[in-house]
Amino acid sequence: MDLKEDLMKSLISINDLSKETILSICNRALDINKNSIQHTLSNKIISTLFFEASTRTKMSFEAAVMRAGGNILSFPSDNSSLQKGESIEDTLRMAAAYSDVIVLRHHEEGTAFRASLALNKPIINAGDGTNEHPTQTLLDIYTIFAQRGSLDGFTMTLAGDLKYSRTIHSLIYALKNFNVRIILASPQNFELPNNFKSIIKDQIILETNDLHKALDTDYFYMTRVQKERLDSNDKNFEYQEDWILTKDLMDKYAPKHCRIMHPLPRINEIHTNLDDTTYNLYFQQAENGVHVRIAILEYVLGVFPCC
Ligand code: NCD
Repeated sequence: MDLKEDLMKSLISINDLSKETILSICNRALDINKNSIQHTLSNKIISTLFFEASTRTKMSFEAAVMRAGGNILSFPSDNSSLQKGESIEDTLRMAAAYSDVIVLRHHEEGTAFRASLALNKPIINAGDGTNEHPTQTLLDIYTIFAQRGSLDGFTMTLAGDLKYSRTIHSLIYALKNFNVRIILASPQNFELPNNFKSIIKDQIILETNDLHKALDTDYFYMTRVQKERLDSNDKNFEYQEDWILTKDLMDKYAPKHCRIMHPLPRINEIHTNLDDTTYNLYFQQAENGVHVRIAILEYVLGVFPCC
């Protein structure tokens, strides 16, 4: 193994990052936000392989690469040799041969991890089934960090489909590092699985199936029901009126400074009448994805001295 391989970093799980690394990535993204973007990725080729639907993650990764002077090698999953029957392993091997980093989204849990073992280039997990979505979490906590200057001393409600949302699972791994009080709120049958609950057991101050009871909080992180991942018992689930966040509900039950977050896409769980209110942090959160993903690419390529 040469020195470059030795130093090679993938980003598969938030759990692989120390608190210091999480804070370094947040600080670097803040620095990029405050000062002009440098061409730290020039001469680098980044492959984006998305085997599942994506708007924000793919577009913001590609915007991040372009803004920082790198090159994108985009992969058309519906018009490639996969259609001829080529295996995903062979496809990934080619992407590793042609590029410096692979950004990978796949519907099967563990795909990014397996790819990182098999390939000699850094892999960034852009979502693997119901498992994890670490780059989303970094932009989520960066959004709070940019607002407060710290990741300690607040209450956060994690709400919606806590069972299947990979964004929630990664967020839990990050939040365990910080002094954050956590409220868990979900419709019945969408509760957080015990293995994730045990990670933050000392931080949980309330668990409820009632949306109204979960609104006394600083950050309200809503998620959509992950319809494509439900088992046959849940298939027909739609959020009922009592699980839709509206301006009336916020005005009545939430403190004025409360901010609503969401990884997006939203379906109907956040009413559009919240879009023009000060509660709305979800669009800013999505915008922050570009600077955070520049910092993540710099981190895996070892081109910023963070850790
Ligand atoms: C999330 C995902 O893909 O897990 N979307 C995203 O990347 N911003 C959330 C979701 O699809 O509900």
